[in-house]
Amino acid sequence: MSKVSIRDLDLAGKRVLLRLDLNVPMEGSRVLDDTRIRAGIPTVKYALEQGASVVVCSHLGRPRGERNPEFDLTPVAVRLARSLRMNVRMAPDCIGDIPTQMSAELKPGEVMILQNLRFHEEEEENDDDFAAQLADMADVYVNDAFGAAHRAHASTYAVATMLPAAGGLLLDREIAALEPIRNGEAGKLGFICGGAKVSDKLGLLERLSEISDVIAIGGAMANTFLLARGLPTGASLLEQDMVEAANEITAIASDEDCNLMLPSDCVIAHGADEPPRAKPLIFGEEDLPEDWQILDVGPATVEAFTEAVKECDTVVWNGPLGLFEREAFSGGTRAMAEALAKMEDATTVICGGETAAAVAQFRLTSKMTHVSTGGGAALEYLQGLDLPGIAVLPDAETADIQDDDGDAP
Ligand code: 3PG
Repeated sequence: MSKVSIRDLDLAGKRVLLRLDLNVPMEGSRVLDDTRIRAGIPTVKYALEQGASVVVCSHLGRPRGERNPEFDLTPVAVRLARSLRMNVRMAPDCIGDIPTQMSAELKPGEVMILQNLRFHEEEEENDDDFAAQLADMADVYVNDAFGAAHRAHASTYAVATMLPAAGGLLLDREIAALEPIRNGEAGKLGFICGGAKVSDKLGLLERLSEISDVIAIGGAMANTFLLARGLPTGASLLEQDMVEAANEITAIASDEDCNLMLPSDCVIAHGADEPPRAKPLIFGEEDLPEDWQILDVGPATVEAFTEAVKECDTVVWNGPLGLFEREAFSGGTRAMAEALAKMEDATTVICGGETAAAVAQFRLTSKMTHVSTGGGAALEYLQGLDLPGIAVLPDAETADIQDDDGDAP
């Protein structure tokens, strides 16, 4: 069911409390990747164009209720201001007299940002009093923090019950891209699944093995599946206790006529820090020495995965196929990204921070149909779970949308 969108609200002269997910990777006070900041810009601009003022709020990291300078949002605010090409006033806290005063003085066309919401433990506790203080700073609430929509926190849940609420433009885009996949309505579906752990993606693998035509598994999680099939895994990272789960997913895929594929070749090394000793290995042609690790998929694997998803209408990719941060083990992930970039007729959807970072590293982001800003949120959404930050927003069909005079039509 679709939710009320910011486009449905009359914003002229209103103050908008805009929840963004500005939880970006940082090194000291340096923003390493501003994708999430840029993703929130269209909604800020839209609200300003409609005559509103905007009070942005977000979390950064996990300071667990402590005012920790490591998670100060100021560098993010500077980056936001640069992207907007305008002044953004930074509040010293997210609640209290000063932010409230600053929000009261905000004029249409102006933007301010609150300090990290998670400096107060009440945020993660979904505390009503804390949410009411946020609500006091605005006339309407807009949630554009898709990446945090799986959290029922004060700024993503409680506050939405206290003000006229809507989803932002990014939320709309994420739902439009992911909903057909979640509903099994994305045509012939291919799922490329990598990353370290089967245990992190159990629910997603179970759900997608029911609705996908192809599941291609790489990354360290493939090692658990290889072990389950009795193939040698040497000293590779794997989860012994997930072998049973791997067998169950294989069984679901087989029952549902889903082609579940594992790597046929790989790149091995004594360890991640020993790239000069990396070498290719074709499973079955030679033995994997016991003290070597699988650190990437090989070219034949990527070729087979590419061939298998070629006929798909939609391809979802979550999780790198190898240790792509290291040049010696980035070949599989790079080749997979390049292959998807060439699939111009298919819808290609990238999910998860690491996969998005890999695609960005290879400068292929613009070649994908959709790169989700959600990590855990995207995975939970795709496996069919209700995300509290979306569920709490009013349904478009039932909401009283106000007209310019504040009357319900
Ligand atoms: C994310 O990066 O996935 C979101 O910002 C949520 O962060 P969290 O896992 O700390 O709640």
